[in-house]
Amino acid sequence: MPFDYQVLKVLHILLVMVWLGTDIATMAAFFGLLNPRFALTTRLAMSRLSDLMDMGPRSALVLLLMLGIYLTYRGEWGLSGPLGAPIAAASALIGVLWFGGVWHQYLVGHGRLVGPRHQAFQRGFRLFDLWWRTILSLVLAAAAAVSLLGQGGPVAAVWLSLKLILFAGIVLLGVYLRVLIPQIGAAVSVIVKHGSDPEREAALRRPAWRAIVAVWGIWVLIAAIVYLAVAKL
Ligand code: HEM
Repeated sequence: MPFDYQVLKVLHILLVMVWLGTDIATMAAFFGLLNPRFALTTRLAMSRLSDLMDMGPRSALVLLLMLGIYLTYRGEWGLSGPLGAPIAAASALIGVLWFGGVWHQYLVGHGRLVGPRHQAFQRGFRLFDLWWRTILSLVLAAAAAVSLLGQGGPVAAVWLSLKLILFAGIVLLGVYLRVLIPQIGAAVSVIVKHGSDPEREAALRRPAWRAIVAVWGIWVLIAAIVYLAVAKL
């Protein structure tokens, strides 16, 4: 196994650890936000912590895909045609830009980057990002399905095709979370403005529990992906 491959594979595995570790922290802080027995200032501090921790999975998803595509090419698990190298290079470039956009979104959303140009960019990026993730997941799943059916697809290994289909599922659950987050934000704003009461707490809990179940679904998919990657079925 070439040295660069070993190093990138180690990074790939470390990113899985970063993903799960920070996702657990995100979840713990999120439960703090939902708890009506805490003071409002505590709940808002929990919310900020949850958002910061959430940058772990958000970053890891982009970097895992980028590294995964490179490992696929370099390890000859797929992308064997003349387009293999250009696809690996293009995915690295797109990954860097996407990673930048995701962090820009966090910095603008939390008031660390201010100004009308940053905000205008983020309004466009938010919509673009939702569509991009939806299309990307369909393309990944389609490429994997074509490969599994033996129709000359880009992936040579069955385990990797199955992994890509599950990964596409994770990306789609992420899109669902992005639809729920503004609903959660709106419910929190109502509580901040008018105070807590059982009805307002229930309005917060509804989208919040949908998000929690979606994240649990992501964890199940990650466990299945790790199994596929290790067992190489
Ligand atoms: C949630 C997402 C992912 C998780 C949890 C994950 C997990 C892992 C793990 C644990 C390994 C190490 C397996 C071993 O050493 O036996 C691995 C290797 C690998 N992954 Fe991923 N991965 C993910 C996404 C991806 C994606 C999207 C791709 C492809 C586009 C990919 C391609 C690969 C490749 C090619 C290897 C190297 C296999 C080897 O040389 O043993 N991974 N992955």
